[in-house]
Amino acid sequence: MCGIFGYIGKRDTALELVIEGLKKLEYRGYDSWGVAAELNGSLFIEKQVGKISEADLSPIKGKNVHMAMGHTRWATHGGVTQINAHPHFSWDKKIAVVHNGIIENYEEVREFVGKEKFVSQTDTEVIAHLIGHFRQTMPFKEAVLAAIHKLKGRYAIVVMNVGEPHLIAARRGSPLILGIGKGETFLASDIPAFLEYTQDVMYLDDNELATVGESVAFFSIETGAPLEKRVVNIDWKAESAEKGEYDHFMLKEIMEQKDSILRAINQNDEEILEIAEAIKKSRGCFFSGCGTAGKVCMAAEYFFSIIANRHVNFAPASEFPIYHHFLRPESLLIVVSQSGETADVLEAMEAAKKKGAKVLSIVNVAGSTIARTSDYSLQIKAGPEKAVASTKAATSQLALLLLIAYAIRGDLQEGRRVLAEAASAVNDMLNPRFLTYVKGVAENIKNHENAYIIGKAENYPMALEAAIKIQEVSYIHAEGFAAGELKHGPIALISKGTPCISLIANDEVKQDIISNTIELKARGAHIIGISPENHEVFDQWIRVPDVGVASPLVNLIPIQLMAYYLGVLRGHNPDMPRNLAKSVTVK
Ligand code: M6R
Repeated sequence: MCGIFGYIGKRDTALELVIEGLKKLEYRGYDSWGVAAELNGSLFIEKQVGKISEADLSPIKGKNVHMAMGHTRWATHGGVTQINAHPHFSWDKKIAVVHNGIIENYEEVREFVGKEKFVSQTDTEVIAHLIGHFRQTMPFKEAVLAAIHKLKGRYAIVVMNVGEPHLIAARRGSPLILGIGKGETFLASDIPAFLEYTQDVMYLDDNELATVGESVAFFSIETGAPLEKRVVNIDWKAESAEKGEYDHFMLKEIMEQKDSILRAINQNDEEILEIAEAIKKSRGCFFSGCGTAGKVCMAAEYFFSIIANRHVNFAPASEFPIYHHFLRPESLLIVVSQSGETADVLEAMEAAKKKGAKVLSIVNVAGSTIARTSDYSLQIKAGPEKAVASTKAATSQLALLLLIAYAIRGDLQEGRRVLAEAASAVNDMLNPRFLTYVKGVAENIKNHENAYIIGKAENYPMALEAAIKIQEVSYIHAEGFAAGELKHGPIALISKGTPCISLIANDEVKQDIISNTIELKARGAHIIGISPENHEVFDQWIRVPDVGVASPLVNLIPIQLMAYYLGVLRGHNPDMPRNLAKSVTVK
C-alpha cells in the first residue's frame, strides 16, 4: 500500500533511478506519484496524478543528482490530487517526506504545528511540518526522532532535508528495506524494486531509524542508541520480478504454477514434522489471513478435518483480535500471508502474542515483518508475486498446508506424493489449448454484470476465492456460496442466463453439489462446470484432472485464467485493478 523508493550514491542519475524503482513498486499504489531531490540548494519536487508508467517525465530530464526519493500512492486520507501526492514538504520547503502508512493522530498534530501551514488533505503532511518545527532548534536526526515520538499510527518514512548529505528512514509497522550496493544505497518498500542493482539487503525493523548517506547507521527510535545490523544476501533473480514474454504479470504468475507448487512442497522434513508436532500439542489452533490468504486458511480447516482429523478455527485477520478471549499460552495462531506485511495480520499476531500464544507464519516474502516476528516461519518459495491478484501464492499456500495436514496424520511422504501428482497435473493443464478454451468460456460471459460460484467442502472456500478473483480483475459482481446454502436465499438472484460456476471434485459430496447445480439450472442459470467429469447439467465444461483432496489446487487454475481473460476482454489492466493495492499495510 504505497511504494517508496530512495537512492543515494555514486550515480548522478538518482531521479531516473527513483522513477525506475517506483515503476517496479507501482503495484502497491497507482493513483499518483512524486519525486524529490535537492537542486542548487533548494527542494525540487515533481508530482503527477495517474500511473507512473504513463507519466510525462520531461520535468525530470537533465536533472543530475546523487540523492533522490519518490513515492507511488494508494490514497487513504485525502482524494487523488496532485497536491495530495507525495512527497510532502514543510512550510519552509526545507524538509520533504514520503510515507507509507497512516498517522492516526494527524488532527492533533495539525493543531500543534499550526493549521495555516497545510496545503494538502493528507495525514502525511503533518510529518513534514513536525520535523520542520523541531529542525528549527535541533540537528536533522534529532528533529526526526522528536517528530516521530509525537506520531501515533503505522509508518515507513524517508525524509530529505535541504543542505544535508543524507536521507533518514524510519519505520513502525510498514515495510522499508535498504539495498546495499557498492558506493550506493537503495531504499524501497520491497526488495524486487532494487534487485537488479544489488542482492544485499539490510532490514529496517519496527521502531528503528537509519541515516543513509556515504555510510549507513541504525538507531533505536525509543532511545536513540546505535544498533548493530547485518547485511543479508537475498537469493532472488531480478528476472523473476519482470514480465518477460507475457503481457501481464498476472498471466505470467498463473503460468509459473507449472513449478511453484513443487517448490512449496519441497520443504525440510524435520521442520515440517516439528510444526506438525507444535500443532498437535497446541490447545486451540487458529488460522488467520486476509483476502485470498484467508480463503486458503478456510480450506485448511477442511484439510485438517478430512486428512488429520483435527479441529482448527479460522477467522479473517481483521476479525481475529476479538477472539482474544479464547487465547492462552498453549494456543497456536497460524497466519498465512503472501507479502508478509499485511497490517490486519500483524494486528492478529499482536493479539495472540499478548496472551502468550505462539505464532507460526506461512509467507512468500522472505525477511518480511510477519516472517521475522513470528515464532516459526515457513516460506512457500513462490518467487515474487507482482500482480495485485494473488494466484501462484494461493496454490503454494494450499499445497503447503495440505502437506502439513498429512504430516500431522503421520503420512508426510504420502502427502508429498499426492501433491507432486497435483503439481504435475497443473503443469499439464497450463498448455495453450487449455488457455484458449478458458478464454472462450470468458468470452461467453464477459458481458454479464453478475456471476455466482458454488463449491462444497474444501471447494467452498475456493468458490469464495473465485469470487474475489473475478471481482478484483474484471469488476463483475461475483459472489461465492456454499452450494447447499443457495436454497436459503441466494437462489432468488438467478434468472435466465445468469452465469454460475460449479466447482466439483470427485468426492463424497459430489452428488450433493450436482443436485444444487441442477437447482440453479432449473432457474435458468448458464452453468459452467469445473470438474474432472462432464455432466448433462453443464452448459460449458472445463475439465480438470482428478487429484482427490488436492482438488482446490487444480480448480483454481481455470478460475484464475477466467478472471484474467474477463479483465482483459472487458478492457481492464489485470495487474492493477482500480482501488486496490498489492500489499495492504493499513488497517
Ligand atoms: O499479502 P497477503 O497475502 O497478506 O495479502 C492478503 C490479501 O490482501 C490478498 O490476498 C488480496 O485479497 C489479493 N488481492 C487477492 O487476490
